[in-house]
Amino acid sequence: MSVDSVLTAPAALAGPLTLVHAADDAPGWWRSAVIYQVYPRSFRDLNGDGVGDLAGITAELPQLAELDVDAVWLSPFYRSPQRDAGYDVSDYCDVDPLFGTLSDFDAMMAEATRLGLRLIVDLVPNHCSDQHTAFQAALAAPAGSPERDMFIFRDGRGDSGELPPNNWQSHFGGPAWTRITEPDGTPGQWYLHLFDSSQPDFNWDNDAVHAEFERVLRFWLDRGVSGFRVDVAHALVKAPGLPEWGGRADGNSSHGFPGHEAPMFGQPALHDIYRAWRRILAEYGPDRILCAEANVDPLPRLADWVRPDEMHQAFNFPYLHAGLDPHRMRSVITDSLTALDAVGAPSTWVLSNHDVVRHATRFGYNGPAPRDGDGIGPADAQPDEELGRSRAAAASMFMLGLPGGAYLYQGEELGLPDGIDIPDHKRQDPTFGRTGGERLGRDGCRVPLPWRAAEPHAGFGAGADPWLPQPASFTALARDTQAASPSSHLNLYRRMLELRRELRLGQGSLAWIEDWCTDSSLAFLNGSTAVLMNLGGDPLELPAGQVLLRSSTSAQHDGAHQLSSGETVWLEIYTEDTEN
Ligand code: BGC
Repeated sequence: MSVDSVLTAPAALAGPLTLVHAADDAPGWWRSAVIYQVYPRSFRDLNGDGVGDLAGITAELPQLAELDVDAVWLSPFYRSPQRDAGYDVSDYCDVDPLFGTLSDFDAMMAEATRLGLRLIVDLVPNHCSDQHTAFQAALAAPAGSPERDMFIFRDGRGDSGELPPNNWQSHFGGPAWTRITEPDGTPGQWYLHLFDSSQPDFNWDNDAVHAEFERVLRFWLDRGVSGFRVDVAHALVKAPGLPEWGGRADGNSSHGFPGHEAPMFGQPALHDIYRAWRRILAEYGPDRILCAEANVDPLPRLADWVRPDEMHQAFNFPYLHAGLDPHRMRSVITDSLTALDAVGAPSTWVLSNHDVVRHATRFGYNGPAPRDGDGIGPADAQPDEELGRSRAAAASMFMLGLPGGAYLYQGEELGLPDGIDIPDHKRQDPTFGRTGGERLGRDGCRVPLPWRAAEPHAGFGAGADPWLPQPASFTALARDTQAASPSSHLNLYRRMLELRRELRLGQGSLAWIEDWCTDSSLAFLNGSTAVLMNLGGDPLELPAGQVLLRSSTSAQHDGAHQLSSGETVWLEIYTEDTEN
């Protein structure tokens, strides 16, 4: 429940507090969980082919258990031609040989269970691969057939159907329609693909598509997964008549287009799909969850997705895009908690994933990163790596103090930067090819992880070169080196996660500490823990209170009395009569 009022501050705080969110002890492991995203291609390569695999994940799961995360979300490992790094699925119920076999999956599941980790898999229901048997059948069948009706085929415009059916653009650049050659060799209909031309969109007006995905859900639930991250969950249903749309196909507010106006996003019929899926999950008990990758604005509209009978969680992209501006951060956090409290759902928080420039790189610029979202290359202004890493530590520490769930992206616990020096011929994101290199794409955040400094490829794999080159700094940032250094980024993450659990911050409350919220700092109280981030250029006097943890590990050890620029501290404010 949220209470929007100004309270009297507890003894150790002089000024007023504005309570936004009350503590939440509703049942549900996910409500306060820390979920770690594994990007299988780049996690750990055990078979030496240069690409990560499921056996590699299984081998390193103990490291994630040691980090003390609750669950692991795996990006797709299904059969796929890999035109969009596995988000182009040709068989939803099998493992791509690149990553292993179904038995490897079962071994990974068993190891996760042994370690007390839950596994969440990625579901890609908006589109499949053009190599999927259903799409191949559609190509072989005539216009108007049930096979074609699994997808969105339309006749073209113009005298001989030579123009696409409407003006929609692909998220990856270029038109969202591709014309096929009919089985008799004549130029034929067009099919819709909001992403790459190798990713045809399903027709969610067709009951057979619903039935197929219900089968897929049960297949993975039967194998023991704790739930699904639902890819582009806002896009499955298109507005009747496929009306023209002037914006970019991502309809993404960060690109200036409010999602709710786009005819390919946020359509009302989506909600019934997710209600049906929730009923299926409920057959497996109360612990299986759905998390929406739903880029929907504004936040109250996003809250509609996590009403009690729909999804359990949705990614909080407004938070990811809030940067380090205290006013913007405060308003996103307040709006998120207020909107989600209204439907009884927890918020989630995230700073990095496989689609955006890593936050250690984004924050290495004074001002916005160049071409944020489109990748950074050698010809762009370069980030200050050290500055980025220390601000990233502070931003993560601020985020992990917030009540709700948190998503971490593999390698952020090592403070990894993006790979910037990637030769063009190595770039694999379809965005790069479809825009003629104008947008570099997302390869930079997908560079394979460094595990052991002394091993080939910093321990990613002992065989072929990694599918993307690792920056030189990866060796010094390898996990084993950091594990041995008390002041490392990794050890800070371990301590943050340990304390977050001990202090039950995920289940806690949030009240803004008004006197510490300025143009250059942001602070809140969660239970008896004050979280303060210095977002300005000058140091701040550390307020009274017992320092629990600070993001600058050297300051931690020196006992410095000032909070430096770009630093976060967790302070125990008072211990008696604490009210949440
Ligand atoms: C995934 C991307 C993918 C796209 C198409 C996104 O939301 O996170 O990596 O390219 O969906 O499936």
